[in-house]
Amino acid sequence: MAKLNIFRLLLILVLSYLSDRANGRVKFKGVNEKLKQLNKPAVKTIQSEDGDIIDCVDIYKQPAFDHPALKNHVIQMKPSFKLKEEKLGTKGLSSKLVVSQTWQKSGSCPDGTVPIRRIQRKDLLRAKSINRFGRKPREVVSKSNITDPKNGLYPSNNSTQVALPTIVNRSAANLVTLGYNYIGAKADINVWNPNVAAADEFTTAQIWLKAGPGDNFESLETGWTVNPHLYGDRRTRLFAYWTKDSYKSTGCFDLTCSGFVQTNPQVALGAPIEPVSSEFGQQYHVTLGIYMDPQTSNWWLKFGADVPIGYWPAGSLMFYLNHSSTLVEWGGQVYSTNVKKTPHTKTAMGSGQFASGLYGNACFIQNPNIVDFSMALKYPEWVGTWADDYYCYTAYNYQKGYGTLPVFYFGGPGQNPNCP
Ligand SMILES: *[C@@H]1O[C@H](CO)[C@@H](O)[C@H](O)[C@H]1NC(C)=O
Ligand SMILES: *[C@@H]1O[C@H](CO)[C@@H](O)[C@H](O)[C@H]1NC(C)=O
Ligand SMILES: *[C@@H]1O[C@H](CO)[C@@H](O)[C@H](O)[C@H]1NC(C)=O
Ligand SMILES: *[C@@H]1O[C@H](CO)[C@@H](O)[C@H](O)[C@H]1NC(C)=O
Ligand SMILES: *[C@@H]1O[C@H](CO)[C@@H](O)[C@H](O)[C@H]1NC(C)=O
Repeated sequence: MAKLNIFRLLLILVLSYLSDRANGRVKFKGVNEKLKQLNKPAVKTIQSEDGDIIDCVDIYKQPAFDHPALKNHVIQMKPSFKLKEEKLGTKGLSSKLVVSQTWQKSGSCPDGTVPIRRIQRKDLLRAKSINRFGRKPREVVSKSNITDPKNGLYPSNNSTQVALPTIVNRSAANLVTLGYNYIGAKADINVWNPNVAAADEFTTAQIWLKAGPGDNFESLETGWTVNPHLYGDRRTRLFAYWTKDSYKSTGCFDLTCSGFVQTNPQVALGAPIEPVSSEFGQQYHVTLGIYMDPQTSNWWLKFGADVPIGYWPAGSLMFYLNHSSTLVEWGGQVYSTNVKKTPHTKTAMGSGQFASGLYGNACFIQNPNIVDFSMALKYPEWVGTWADDYYCYTAYNYQKGYGTLPVFYFGGPGQNPNCP
């Protein structure tokens, strides 16, 4: 019996060694070390029907505390602020709030732990390198072509055009506000499951809060994404993201690096959300917000009906964002090496339909609110729309009638007859 077990063990070792070789282990020295560092010991493990493994990790042993700047961080268990919710003009579109994640059907995490999506060997092996794992590709700005509005190099402020630089390998369709200091932003983001054409491309619907210089900005982000490169499938997943150097070498999605401090025992970053909306059928949305706690300068991420998930300790991780954000964006982004060129990628944004399709057809962002130092949530004083590639993905801030607030629609199919 013992002999048989030893034989089995050897066989498993040999097989895993061979499969490591086949998977390019040689290129990926240190995979085991990295996995050990990223995946903290679980108090309980939950196998989700969507294929994810969720580890319930002791809240004091989560990845955040590996960050050199957070060695002596004292965890803040809940936000110390309350927002003044402004009465909004419109009743709103008919849509159901998504409050649950697929893995929650298979169990829950005990008190004192936080649910963390386990990073598997195969996830690491898909990355370009161990150091880039969990990171968006660098953002490289190319020269802005001031003379060619056809290429969509301008965001339009209602009808006047404002020049912005264009970013390599990324295409966005956004609602933008700037000109003030923002200490929070929120939105109801319609949930869809758009097509992603290639395994190394991704699509998002999200909020960005940014500060700092254009070539080295800080950004806090949340939304949903379809990102097979990172997650290994094409499900629609909840994500959080941070960077302090415009995606160069800091920050990451979710808890795939140290930085974000999670406090919530029920919501797992990076895990799928469902259901998704269907064309002219039931619409679903997630409500997401990022708010700075004026007492601690921690930026809290909230989900659903004001449920805190955790925070980024800006005093330790950020410089500009330790004070406020100066640019807020809502909308979609496609990452592909085949945007702004022919043939264009077929990776879709939003629902995969153009913004002009409106409710039930195009992806919407409703109540895109900001928070200023008065601690009130409000519709921004000024907004502009922007589409990089507007024959491929569009942006439309649609106001139904006088006295109603606009609803932002965005997205598109990518490649189509007007975007070959
Ligand atoms: C700017 O647009 C014009 C007109 O389409 C084009 O001829 C020119 O090559 C573009 N310049 C750059 C730097 O992309
Ligand atoms: C956008 O347009 C509004 C109204 O015309 C104006 O007050 C505001 O300054 C403009 N913003 C920018 C950034 O051009
Ligand atoms: C935007 O422009 C349209 C037409 O040019 C005008 O009717 C509308 O009042 C403008 N809206 C705002 C918010 O300035
Ligand atoms: C960050 O902001 C807080 C609150 O304003 C302040 O107390 C703290 O000193 C700042 N931290 C850094 C590193 O600047
Ligand atoms: C953009 O994509 C091309 C491949 O088409 C790649 O060679 C290049 O490095 C990418 N640039 C950036 C800045 O990601």
